[in-house]
Amino acid sequence: MTLDHIPTVDLDDLRSQNPLERALAAEAVKLGFAHFGLVYVANHRLNPALLDRFYASYQSFSQRPEAHKKSLSRAEQWFQRGWTPPNTEQAVTGGQPDFKECYFMSPTEALPQDKRRYPQLYADNVWPEDALDFRGSFTALSRALQEAGELLLEGAALALGLDDQALRSRVMNGPHVTRALRYLPLAKSQVGTGIVWGEEHTDFNMLTLLPGGRFINPQGDPCPKPDNGSGLHLRTRATEETPGGERVAGVAKPGCIIAQVGQQLEIFSGGCFLATPHEITAPMTPGYSRLSLAHFLHTHTDQVLAPIGALATEAALDAYNPPVLAGTYDIKTLVDIGLAPKSAIDQLGYRHYDRVKKERRRAA
Ligand SMILES: [Fe+2]
Repeated sequence: MTLDHIPTVDLDDLRSQNPLERALAAEAVKLGFAHFGLVYVANHRLNPALLDRFYASYQSFSQRPEAHKKSLSRAEQWFQRGWTPPNTEQAVTGGQPDFKECYFMSPTEALPQDKRRYPQLYADNVWPEDALDFRGSFTALSRALQEAGELLLEGAALALGLDDQALRSRVMNGPHVTRALRYLPLAKSQVGTGIVWGEEHTDFNMLTLLPGGRFINPQGDPCPKPDNGSGLHLRTRATEETPGGERVAGVAKPGCIIAQVGQQLEIFSGGCFLATPHEITAPMTPGYSRLSLAHFLHTHTDQVLAPIGALATEAALDAYNPPVLAGTYDIKTLVDIGLAPKSAIDQLGYRHYDRVKKERRRAA
């Protein structure tokens, strides 16, 4: 199996009611998600001109003063909305803080009961007041990516032999986020010192969609890749012939976007699909930054993460036990990657152990 075998899923096949066309898309998803952990997606309905406009507006936002960006930063919301400063998040694998700044927003309006239960995961969006183009293009792209992702989940369900809504229904009203990323330019002294833009990791959500990024030259203009050292790299499933998997450059075919499997989808599939390990390497040329956009579809927080239906074989149950509430899983992971404080874990257990002590004291 080589990289040329990464399949392309045509979303028009999944928009169709024709079972043969839907089966064709499901076949492509099956091969892509099982071996590579990713597929290329065609007919995604993302406007390329809008993507260009978004990157221009994001580049201009990123040049604003640090104090202004900090006013849009929400540590108390675990950075799930607004601006995330550099060196905040870190990968679970090696713990190197990522060399990037980000901006988070959600395409969907949260249900009131979800906001109450998980205020950070379902927080309201935060926007700079005077950046209408940034807000408008970001929101439109985020909604288009959400729609494409939900359709793709129908194909994923069919590929797993499930009802076509089995996965899509599990992400309804979920804490979806779209994230704009700016990987920071390296100084001359930092090049070749082992700094990576994003350490190798797997995403903890259901499905990640990547419409393709832009390099920015030291003058602040979009430019081609400065050298072959930089960019997104993905690792395919380990096999007997390739026990470390194969390293694949994450560049989509022209006109396509990339969709990759997250941990939650791997769990539901009982390991039939693979959460894609991926890494973003930094260039060997100083002064170049990279803008990128990633949309994360999440399982609704009330869902239980465990292999579903016939996918719950004994081996799958052993691999993914115990079942965990998706909201709990989100909190645990956000603590692990440094976005939520460690105290968030304490809220997952009983919080009133001191009551008996107090009552006994009062009774004495
Ligand atoms: Fe990632």
